[in-house]
Amino acid sequence: MYKNPYGSVALITGASSGIGYETAHKLAKLGFRVYGGSRRGGESIRYDEGAINMLQLDVTEEESIKRAVDEILEKEGRIDILINCAGIGIAGAVEDCSGEEALRQMDVNYAGTLRMIRMVVPFMRARGNGLIINIGSVGGVFSIPFQTLYSSSKFAVEALTEGLRIELKPWGVKAALVEPGDVRTGFTAARIYAKDCKTTAYGARFTQSIKQMEHDELHGKAPDAVVKVILQTIRSKNPPVRRTVGGMYKVLVFLKRILPSRLVEALLDMMYPKSNVK
Ligand SMILES: NC(=O)c1ccc[n+]([C@@H]2O[C@H](COP(=O)([O-])OP(=O)(O)OC[C@H]3O[C@@H](n4cnc5c(N)ncnc54)[C@H](OP(=O)(O)O)[C@@H]3O)[C@@H](O)[C@H]2O)c1
Repeated sequence: MYKNPYGSVALITGASSGIGYETAHKLAKLGFRVYGGSRRGGESIRYDEGAINMLQLDVTEEESIKRAVDEILEKEGRIDILINCAGIGIAGAVEDCSGEEALRQMDVNYAGTLRMIRMVVPFMRARGNGLIINIGSVGGVFSIPFQTLYSSSKFAVEALTEGLRIELKPWGVKAALVEPGDVRTGFTAARIYAKDCKTTAYGARFTQSIKQMEHDELHGKAPDAVVKVILQTIRSKNPPVRRTVGGMYKVLVFLKRILPSRLVEALLDMMYPKSNVK
């Protein structure tokens, strides 16, 4: 069994695709008993060392989370590691996104993470051990134009994790962020565009910017790079607040913390197509 301070039962949301899928398979091969959640469920697999049991779990539905958590507790009596990986991206200029779209973005990425934590933490506190890994994003450190709703949800996940760590300290339960940059997953194809966002005053710039961003994602790192960092976090008795995935993104996140905000903004502005509005 993979040596770590928490245990061998892991629950991973968003395990049907991308980072969650690769993490589930890697952990199962290392001997973890993995429970993978997603709306579509998926195939359960047994490896020589461990196994993945896929469950139907929608992080926007309290009942669905409860059913999944109850099932794991009944079988295992514990959840040692929770990895909150479920996420979606809604793209569009802020002005072009409806309140409904904003709530949907926050509901999956932020409130979904919060619901999972609230359901699992009581059992971790009772055992006086446990690890929660929240998959944030470099987009949760820099607000990315035309993905501002997505960035808002990931900024919120950063805040959630930072406060949670301090609240959980007396019980020895740990929480940490893993922040990927561009990763080649199903995320790009699953992205939702705000209704009519291509035909408004922002349309041309939005279309060019999102094309560039999607190109970067499709040529980004393979999910294994994120899995490696998740494994480092699982091995840590006292994980750091955040681990950014990849050397270049680490440097960017560091610069964000030390450079004046106006300079960071100017650099970000330079990265994306310019406005044709005078
Ligand atoms: N790809 C990137 O470039 C990148 C960069 C930084 C951060 N991230 C973050 O990494 C995480 C994983 O994304 P990914 O890149 O692996 O994307 P992905 O391949 O699209 O996987 C997303 C997963 O989330 C699940 N999901 C979506 N809505 C859900 C809901 N309501 N309830 C439960 N599961 C739900 C999906 O499964 P179902 O559709 O079956 O529900 C899928 O398994 C996300 O939080 C994302 O924000 C990704």
